[in-house]
Amino acid sequence: MKYSKINGTGHAVPRQIYTNDDLAKIVDTNDEWIVSRTGIKQRHISTDETTTDLAYNAALKAIEASSVTLNDIEMVIVATVTPDHAFPGVSNLLQKRLGLDEIPTFDINAACSGFIYALNIADKMILSSAYNHILIIGAETLTRLTDWSDRNTCVLFGDGAGAMVISKSETPGIKDIIVGSRSDDEGHLICDSPALKNPYENKISQQDHIHMNGREVFKFATRVMPSTIVNLLERNNMHKDDIDYVVAHQANKRIIEKASKDVGIPMDKMYVNIQNYGNTSAASVPIAIDEAIRKGKLKPGDTFVTVAFGGGFTYGGALIKL
Ligand SMILES: CC(C)(COP(=O)(O)OP(=O)(O)OC[C@H]1O[C@@H](n2cnc3c(N)ncnc32)[C@H](O)[C@@H]1OP(=O)(O)O)[C@@H](O)C(=O)NCCC(=O)NCCS
Repeated sequence: MKYSKINGTGHAVPRQIYTNDDLAKIVDTNDEWIVSRTGIKQRHISTDETTTDLAYNAALKAIEASSVTLNDIEMVIVATVTPDHAFPGVSNLLQKRLGLDEIPTFDINAACSGFIYALNIADKMILSSAYNHILIIGAETLTRLTDWSDRNTCVLFGDGAGAMVISKSETPGIKDIIVGSRSDDEGHLICDSPALKNPYENKISQQDHIHMNGREVFKFATRVMPSTIVNLLERNNMHKDDIDYVVAHQANKRIIEKASKDVGIPMDKMYVNIQNYGNTSAASVPIAIDEAIRKGKLKPGDTFVTVAFGGGFTYGGALIKL
């Protein structure tokens, strides 16, 4: 029997921090409303660092924290809804910057659940024996898609990236496969995504911005998050007390509190960092896992559940032993 494992994590966020008070200068909102309804106190917003820049910095940290070097990486998967370009992908641009060979590199889009989808692909690739070490990243500059005149949505989101090296911890395998990539960082074949923007200028993208029915999303999230945690435990004949931590997608502290109550896992076992980052979409889960590891909240040998939901009404979860 063989498995894949987390073999190093890292994260990166833009330099600029916008507090709730900063946003109150842009829209009719206030710190009290934002904190009480969401738990968010500040978020990092990029006006000059691209999704690829953030992914690159997170990737270097994950490699540094792992037992492998860049030469060992055989595949890169980036989960993002805010790639620098519609194509080439962030993964493809990273390939050149990281100096990787002609390995397969591709982006996936499963909104805020994207990182869990990437984890699933990496896991299955490794279980197939075709790959030993895969770099997966959740990276977003979601604030490019923000309408800074819409207080219902603009207070919720932030930018960032989280990365993981997923490695085999045993064997079996795939019969044959050929895939490759060649990094077109000069833009020979390219289609643009919306440009980075300054919240104070709010140049609404020609390609549109985020629209959200908050209550419907809230209902979906508070249903699917507890049920995914419970399903993971039941499928593995585990009890909630066997779990050291739950690292959930950071969309709203109240959603995490509801999951904690419904599953019966106390809040001190639910990792919460939304106060510092807001909702960073596909980056939220790997940023939180990396931070929990670096703070010693998650330790080698610990068992944790990670769970996410997002646009498309995607969802996902994983049961992981560190
Ligand atoms: C968005 C969300 C925080 C709103 O919280 P809520 O308790 O449902 O708030 P409501 O929608 O009931 O809005 C209450 C009032 O606050 C107002 N309001 C909305 N945003 C505000 C803001 N930033 N500041 C001040 N007031 C605000 C609304 O206009 C509304 O006013 P009204 O009653 O006069 O119309 C919540 O619905 C949510 O988190 N949903 C899930 C969103 C999510 O997770 N998205 C990402 C998925 S990956």
